Amino acid sequence: MDMTQAEATGHPQIMDRCPPETIEGKESAAGQLFHASSCSLLDLFCGAGGAGEGYQRAGFDVTGVDIKPMLNNPHRFIRGDALEYLEAHGHEYDAIHASPPCQRYSTATREAEKHPDLYVKTRDILSGFDAPWVIENVIGAPYSHGVKLCGTMFGLDEDGEWIQRHRNFETSWLMFQPECNHLKTQRAITITGHCFLTVTKDCARHSRQGSFDLCQRLMGIDWMSRKELVQAIPPAYTEFIGRDLMRILKAKRRQSSTQATMTRAPRIDYERLKQRRG
Ligand SMILES: C[S@@+](CC[C@H](N)C(=O)[O-])C[C@H]1O[C@@H](n2cnc3c(N)ncnc32)[C@H](O)[C@@H]1O
Repeated sequence: MDMTQAEATGHPQIMDRCPPETIEGKESAAGQLFHASSCSLLDLFCGAGGAGEGYQRAGFDVTGVDIKPMLNNPHRFIRGDALEYLEAHGHEYDAIHASPPCQRYSTATREAEKHPDLYVKTRDILSGFDAPWVIENVIGAPYSHGVKLCGTMFGLDEDGEWIQRHRNFETSWLMFQPECNHLKTQRAITITGHCFLTVTKDCARHSRQGSFDLCQRLMGIDWMSRKELVQAIPPAYTEFIGRDLMRILKAKRRQSSTQATMTRAPRIDYERLKQRRG
């Protein structure tokens, strides 16, 4: 595994991260304002960074890991096996997100069983971590619970065209489920698999196609190739998850600093007090 970039980054130690308040504003790679913070997030199976971008907008310092080189990924990037990296370095991060490949569980995949079941393996490893975690995947993946997000929850539409792109987010903490508001004017635009890459007659039967430009705008992503966009999730989804995650981390941090103060509080020396009162 190529870990040279990880070594070069030299992440700070966990103790000094995630202050209760975030600090100054900063521009993200996709041109959005976000708050620079010392809360770190590991984005496993990161692809070109759709999920990572949402977390960055929510205030996280994102490091992505992918087995393939991802030259368009705008965040700190490490090339390597996601689960090997998780086992070796997961404890160095404040929070962890994983988007294992969905081909195994997607109804659009032919011979799905030929693809590895990385979802269960990922959850088995993440369950051993104290840090909060998230696993994102398609409907049909073996998640045990979570929130299902939809483009209509975030206004991902334009002139009556919209994306549904349902994805489940299994979280290690409790989140409330927002409601879909599917637009009834016409079928949603789909941005999946071979139909988006090479449109055939057959595609029109089960999906509505949009131009690359329209799909980029609906997704809220303008830095990826077509192939990368097909794999990505809209940053709006993880910005929503990330804001709740930030709230959890800050509460955790406040709780541990209160506990530390109470442990350090001086004990009352009643004997001395009695002597002084005479
Ligand atoms: C669904 S895509 C992730 C998309 C990403 N979440 C986004 O929003 O842009 C899954 C990624 O997992 C990567 N991948 C597959 N097996 C992997 C492994 N063993 N370790 C690391 N990455 C892997 C693929 O190269 C692919 O980029």
